[in-house]
Amino acid sequence: MKKGKVIAVAGKGGTGKTAIAALLIREILKLRAHEDICVLAIDADADSNLPDALGISYGKTTGDIRESLLEDKHRDVTLDMRSQFIGKIAEVIVEEDQYDLLVMGRPEGPGCYCPVNHILRMIIDTLTENYDYTIIDCEAGLEHLSRRTTRDVDVMLVVLDTTVKSMKTALQLRKIAEEIDADVKKMMNVANKIPEGAEEMIIEEAKKYSLDIEEIIPFDFLIQEYDSKGMPIMDLPEDAPPVVSVSRIAKYICEALKNGGGEF
Ligand SMILES: Nc1ncnc2c1ncn2[C@@H]1O[C@H](COP(=O)(O)OP(=O)(O)OP(=O)(O)O)[C@@H](O)[C@H]1O
Ligand SMILES: [Mg+2]
Repeated sequence: MKKGKVIAVAGKGGTGKTAIAALLIREILKLRAHEDICVLAIDADADSNLPDALGISYGKTTGDIRESLLEDKHRDVTLDMRSQFIGKIAEVIVEEDQYDLLVMGRPEGPGCYCPVNHILRMIIDTLTENYDYTIIDCEAGLEHLSRRTTRDVDVMLVVLDTTVKSMKTALQLRKIAEEIDADVKKMMNVANKIPEGAEEMIIEEAKKYSLDIEEIIPFDFLIQEYDSKGMPIMDLPEDAPPVVSVSRIAKYICEALKNGGGEF
């Protein structure tokens, strides 16, 4: 069995994937602090927001490496892109005290035959082995799954909000996962930005789309304030309601994965 556990955070655009991914990284690190674990954060969205949510800056992206390798390939057609890429990946990994960050960057340029999704697949296949947990902040929508880049993750957190559109996306993600026979051990629907008192309503609405909501993350103006002031979501106070909810998610996932994921 592979060592590294992979958690992808997916869902419709704007539902809160990046905020939840950042908090999940923090809460997993906190939960397993005494075990000295290695965590890799991957920003797989071309519009890379995860570094801001984590409060760290980055230089190169995997997209930049790909561009330079493509130039090399023009000069030498025998160049093995895969092994060259793996060799260069360390150049783009940002090493923080407690975790590493990899930013995928821009999707393929014109005429490119080595799209960023293909690279993401390669990274999931190889790099994640070196980490206890990899958390992927996915691009919005369905592409990552339909292109099979997230086809074998341990947990896919599917984030939805109060909109029907986000529920439809959640449903589509599940259908695609079934169609491509994805090896996703657990698809976990999480409702985010839920106003106080609307919890039951959202659970009932989601049922109409055959979606079971497993965790509710409350609407919190503080997240919006942090975002509008450019403050890292990672630094939200411990007692902020969304942090408490994500902490529960982290605990549930870590416990289940520690036992091989059988209780999912
Ligand atoms: N629990 C919450 N309460 C209030 N606002 C929230 C909450 N979670 C996220 N937001 C706000 O929702 C907006 C979208 O959040 P975020 O960027 O995390 O979503 P996303 O799904 O990653 O978006 P994208 O699809 O563009 O990557 C932000 O303005 C953020 O401040
Ligand atoms: Mg995002």
